[in-house]
Parts: sequence; structure tokens; C-alpha cells
Amino acid sequence: VLDRFYVEGGLVPGERFRAQPMLRVERGELAELLTVLGNFVEVWLAKEGHRAPVGINYLEKIQLALAPGLFGAILAGVDCVLVGAGVPGHVPELTRQLTRMRPVSIRLRLEGTEEDYVHTFDPAAVLGRTRLGTDQGCQCGGPGGGQGGRRGGEGSGCRGKPAQDTRQVQDIRITPLAPTARVLQSTTAHPPATPVTGITTPLRRPHVLAIVSLPLLAGYLARDEATVPDGFVIETHGAGGHSAPPRGKWQLDARGEPLYGPRDHPDLAKMAKINIPFWLAGGTAHPQRLAAARALGAAGVQVGSAFALCEESGLQPGLRQALRNRAHAQQLKVRNDPKASPAAFPFKVAEVPGTLSDPVVRTARRRVCDLGYLRAPYRTAGGAIGYRCPAEPEAAYRRKGGSASDTEGRLCLCNGLLATAGLGQRQPRGQDEPPVLTLGQDLDFLSDLSPDGGPYRAIEVVRWLTGTREAARAH
Ligand SMILES: Cc1cc2nc3c(=O)[nH]c(=O)nc-3n(C[C@H](O)[C@H](O)[C@H](O)COP(=O)(O)O)c2cc1C
Repeated sequence: VLDRFYVEGGLVPGERFRAQPMLRVERGELAELLTVLGNFVEVWLAKEGHRAPVGINYLEKIQLALAPGLFGAILAGVDCVLVGAGVPGHVPELTRQLTRMRPVSIRLRLEGTEEDYVHTFDPAAVLGRTRLGTDQGCQCGGPGGGQGGRRGGEGSGCRGKPAQDTRQVQDIRITPLAPTARVLQSTTAHPPATPVTGITTPLRRPHVLAIVSLPLLAGYLARDEATVPDGFVIETHGAGGHSAPPRGKWQLDARGEPLYGPRDHPDLAKMAKINIPFWLAGGTAHPQRLAAARALGAAGVQVGSAFALCEESGLQPGLRQALRNRAHAQQLKVRNDPKASPAAFPFKVAEVPGTLSDPVVRTARRRVCDLGYLRAPYRTAGGAIGYRCPAEPEAAYRRKGGSASDTEGRLCLCNGLLATAGLGQRQPRGQDEPPVLTLGQDLDFLSDLSPDGGPYRAIEVVRWLTGTREAARAH
């Protein structure tokens, strides 16, 4: 990966990020490997320098990425896995199987049909491909290890030294293997019973938290041993990012946002009766709301927006500041956009000029699907598996059997969110991908954390919420 994708010192202005392979049911091994590695690295970095638990959050709707992503996170010792945007009933079992390094079957829903397609992800095969089992420090394959990469070739791509970091990859014992056993290429549904990578299993299983909007779904998941998670996040529709649609038929209000009614408010007494820990999310970033949640039986709250605007967040600093300034000037609107997300869930879009919320920016952007994380599989007229996304170029989507009306108002969240994190692709003709900003609709916390629109740190959010801020100041 270093040979192929890493650029020492970063890209020069105007230089493009190298194209990545996309996840798919056939010949998707390299994309799976990158997904494992990307998730591994995110968790590994998040765990550096402290002993507090680290969780990772997935959208169930991104079906092909879930198993490889989860496996990478497990290898890095993730403590908690949170899954929303879909029904995550299969995730507890998926997690169990991956910690045992067993191949998992993913039932992919083929868009527009009642049909499922069973795809197998084999963790042992992925590690076989990385030669993680060799325990030699250098894993590049020696001379010629850099296949076609800009730093490839003998002596240039390989760092050639054993890993300095003494942390172990989870509690894996990596042992040298017989050369023939190192690479397992098969991802068939009938793999050998024993893993071939020399990894001592099982790995540590993270806690699974299902993100749901109502106790009804929580009760349903809690009924069966196979689907019951270790906890629930009850997320209401004001929360940042995606949220559940209103129950029943969708209706829009005068601003074109989904209209939620009393049936969309979670009954927390029912939730408490399920007797599994739960956290409340969506506009809960306030000490009194945390106390109220706990009084109603919640274990705590989940907060997103207050951290998205703090100094440690992955949002580009300029965008963070623009959001705080606009909020301070009482000019920040966050729209619950029913169309924006290709995932078809309502998605909160913060309205900031120069981003994809701006109609001028939106119209000027040429549609392209070059990352493909949100592509959905479908059955082509010829019977093969194809992939499509309603935010891709309209003509291509229609050619793939998608309806024109489905493409209206869709934003490319793949490119937009990467741009928000400062990793936007530079498209031809000097067009940089514009960012898209998501935030919750309740920003009351800013009057306490950032009364003048200025910066604040993550630790201040935690201290303020838990009532330890004054004590820390006095100290
Ligand atoms: C910038 C941002 C990105 C988010 N992305 C996701 C996501 O990818 N998946 C998810 O389940 N929740 C996501 N959320 C929701 C948070 O996990 C959390 O539940 C929510 O922010 C809590 O409500 P609050 O925004 O009012 O604090 C996101 C929130 C923000 C602010």
C-alpha cells in the first residue's frame, strides 16, 4: 500500500489522488484489503497514547465494506462497534465469526429486487494475501514488492526494517508458517477449518451497539440470542449525519424536510424494560440532558456535533471555524435533507456557502463516481451483478436501470465528506471536489463551549458534560 499510494510530503497542488479499486463481489480482493487496512489504521491511531475504549461506527447500508472494515478494526483492538442506517441484526454474529477468523457470508440485498446474493469474506485469506504470517517486520515481499507503485523497485519502496512499535496486533501471536501455507487465495464458501496465517484465535470480540431510533426495533433485536447486541444507541432525528425516516408515509414540511410526529419519539420507559444498556443520541449534548437521560434509565449519551466542532475533529480547520462563526452570528441552518444522501436516509446538511449545500457549487460540480463507497449492487439485464449510485452521472444511472427522479438532489457524499476532511480529490480542469458539512440540528452547546465562536477542545466537552469543568479550572 505504501508503494502504491503513499506520497512522501503529500500531493503537490493540483496533483490527483491515485484511483483506488472499488469493493465488489468478484475480484474485489484489493479493495477489501485496503478496507481492512484503513479501518485497522484508524483504530490503531485512535488508541495511541491512552487506555480509554475506542469505538468505530458503520452504516449497515454499506454492505460490502462492513465485514472487511470490522475485521480491520478488530485486529487493531477496537472496543466497540456501532452500526446504524439499516437493521444490524447480523452484526453480533458477524463479529463473533470474524474474531474466530472464520469466513463470513454476507447476504447482499440486490437493489430493486427481492433477491439476496451471498458473498463470502474470508479474513484468513486477506491476511494470507498480506503475508502477515511471516513475522519478518518487512512485509513488502522484497525486491520488486512495489508493483507498479511510484516508489516501487528494489531499495526504494521497502523500508526494510522490523516494526519498531511494540504494541501487538490485538493479541495475535504471529508465527512463521510453512511457505505453502502462507497464501490462501480461495474465498469459496467451503474454506478449510483451520486458519492458515498462524494467528492465535479467537481475537478479542468488541462490544456491539446497535443504533436504532425506536424501542420497537430494539425489542425485536433483543428477542433472539443471535441478534441481540451488547447495547443500543437510541438516536433521534435531530442528530448529525444520517437519521431514520419518519414512521409511516413520508411527508415534508414547508422547508421540504421530513415531518416527524409523536410516533417517532422513543418511549424510554419501554427501552428501559428491555434491560440492555442504552445511550441517547441527538441533541443530548448538555449536562442536564445527560442527567435526565440517566434518570430515565440510559447508561449515558452519545454526542457527535459538539466533537465535530472541536479542535481535535477531522473537519478541516477552516470549515470548523466557518461553522462556529455562522452559529455565533445566528446564521447557521442545518437542513434535514430527504434527498441528499445516496443511501436514501434523511441526511443533515449544514448550509455554508462554498460547500455542496450551496446551489451554485452543487450545479457547477460535474458528477463523477470514482470512489464508489455508497454504490449498491443490482442485477443487470444480462444477469450479472452491477453497481450503481443515484449520485453518479445521471445518464450512467439510468443506463443501469435506475430512475431519473432518483438522481435529483443527490450529493456525492463519498467525495464531499473526504473533501470535508481535507482529502478531496482534484478533478480535471482545476476543479477540486467541494466539501459537504453535516451537523446535528441542536447547537445549543456552543453558547457554553464557544460563547464567542472561538475554538475549544474535546476534553472541555467531556468536562462540561460530566460536570468536572469547574473542578479542572480550579485545579
Ligand atoms: C460530522 C458527523 C458525522 C456523523 N457520521 C455518522 C456516521 O457516519 N454514522 C452514524 O451512525 N452516525 C454519525 N453521526 C451521528 C453521531 O454518531 C451521533 O449519534 C450524533 O451526532 C449525536 O447527535 P448530535 O449531533 O446532536 O450530538 C455523525 C455526526 C456528525 C456530527
